[in-house]
Amino acid sequence: MSSVLGSRRYLTNFDVHRLPHLFTDVIVIGSGIAGLRAALAAAESADVLVVTKSEAAQSATNVAQGGIAAVMQAPDRFEDHARDTLTVSEGLGDERVIQRVVREAPEHIRELQEWGAQFDVAGDHLARGREGGHSAARVVHAHGDATGREIIRVLLERARAHPRIRIFERCFSIDLLTDDGRVVGVVTHHQKYGHQMFWATTTILATGGAGRAFRETTNPPVATGDGLAMAFRAGALLRDLEFVQFHPTTLYIAGAARALISEAVRGEGARLVHRDGRRFMDAYDPRGELAPRDIVSRAINAELKNRNVSHVYLDVRHLPSGTFAKRFPTIDRLCREFDIHPERDLIPVRPSAHYTVGGVVTNPDGDTSLPGLLAAGEVASTGLHGANRLASNSLLEGLVFGRRAGLVAGRRAAERGRIDHPPALSHLLPQSPRTALDVHDVLHSLQSVMSRNAGIERSADRLGETVEIIEFWSRYVMDKVFDMPEQWETQNLLTIALCIATGAATRCESRGVHFRVDFPTRDDEHWRVHVDLRRADHGIQVATSPRAAGEEDPPGDDTGM
Ligand code: SIN
Repeated sequence: MSSVLGSRRYLTNFDVHRLPHLFTDVIVIGSGIAGLRAALAAAESADVLVVTKSEAAQSATNVAQGGIAAVMQAPDRFEDHARDTLTVSEGLGDERVIQRVVREAPEHIRELQEWGAQFDVAGDHLARGREGGHSAARVVHAHGDATGREIIRVLLERARAHPRIRIFERCFSIDLLTDDGRVVGVVTHHQKYGHQMFWATTTILATGGAGRAFRETTNPPVATGDGLAMAFRAGALLRDLEFVQFHPTTLYIAGAARALISEAVRGEGARLVHRDGRRFMDAYDPRGELAPRDIVSRAINAELKNRNVSHVYLDVRHLPSGTFAKRFPTIDRLCREFDIHPERDLIPVRPSAHYTVGGVVTNPDGDTSLPGLLAAGEVASTGLHGANRLASNSLLEGLVFGRRAGLVAGRRAAERGRIDHPPALSHLLPQSPRTALDVHDVLHSLQSVMSRNAGIERSADRLGETVEIIEFWSRYVMDKVFDMPEQWETQNLLTIALCIATGAATRCESRGVHFRVDFPTRDDEHWRVHVDLRRADHGIQVATSPRAAGEEDPPGDDTGM
């Protein structure tokens, strides 16, 4: 049976003969850490166009607090960072990828410093914070808790000043254009200029994750899974989307947007407590508050259920006077906006969706399964995280794979030459006779259903119900041709939510951040595999694959995997 989601190749109608065109060597979609680092690397040998749907500084990177994990000095060792990453990945991390990433980390930190990044120092060395799952304090940070903002400041300044980089802001990428299976560019929409077609030899997806599929998330409003959904529609291989990481501590103020309270706060000694000041983490894990975040999130979830309360608290009142505000100025300011004074008050927190662990499958060069398309950062599945991501490894991943993908894309574009004549592409979807739903309402209902049924705890029943209801909404939302970014975002979120729920229903075990109450243990005999997803006429084609991401042979010749 054909499904509307499976048969939908493009979200918009277009005709190459009727739209304005722009030709370049490399297109980068997204302006977070991976996108900007990729653009700077590609610009070493090619002209680059960065397309970003909001202002360039708006990204998940910009709100990242904790920092970048890196082994900067003895006695910390690469082996320890690698082991911590591998342990947290619960059998699905790719050791070769992990080794490469942790060993490259220090040079990326030094490069950012050379470019002007002001990381915090302690004496002669970089200051390093501690976060869950790390066996050492190795998280480099800036302005206490504004690491992402500092990195974006530096990368953006550099990209804006680069003669071979152009940045198009408020330009929504609707779909990747493919010609005979090869990605040749992107069809976009700009409020002022309408639809445009951008053509490039190589396109890099760096669009981040899909936290907005959930009602409560640390992610900014831009995190609507657009790149994942575009890649899915274009036929790329996606993997392990059931692994959605929940951050244990987001500020819980009913009615206010959820804001991250960095794990580094617990690294500095903050305790998780109930209103009466009683701690509970020791009952769940000997590492207490510094257990990996999947364990802490599940522990909080259990406490919320057992006590029938909406939140727990972070307690920093025992820290020496003045230290909290000095070390975490952004979080301190945020709390004070709500009349919470961390030195004397408890900070109300609960878990919320934080990071899309799976993504578009890439090899170590960033190549996806589609020729002409690379991916880097949260949108990609590189093999670094496996079933769970170690704290503060994501900015690192963005730097390492952003640079690599950029270098590869730039070099290939220079070798191959520019597309000078657009292929005769068009797409025309007739008006659907089906009734229209209120898309805004569908989005809110989707976020509620995902939080309730595909959140920290899942079961076959609830996932089955979720798949059914998303398929129902899709029949009325995915059959329409819309003309506004919010509507395309909802179509993208429906697509990726269905992938998440389908992957979660497929994986009949608990591993990493995926917890099934009906299969509460890890089952290496049957499930030490990846769950691969691709668009098919019937909707989503699901398969399992025993190979670790990154074990694929790099195509090298740009023919895709
Ligand atoms: C945090 O500061 O807790 C978030 C860092 C991360 O997601 O790795």
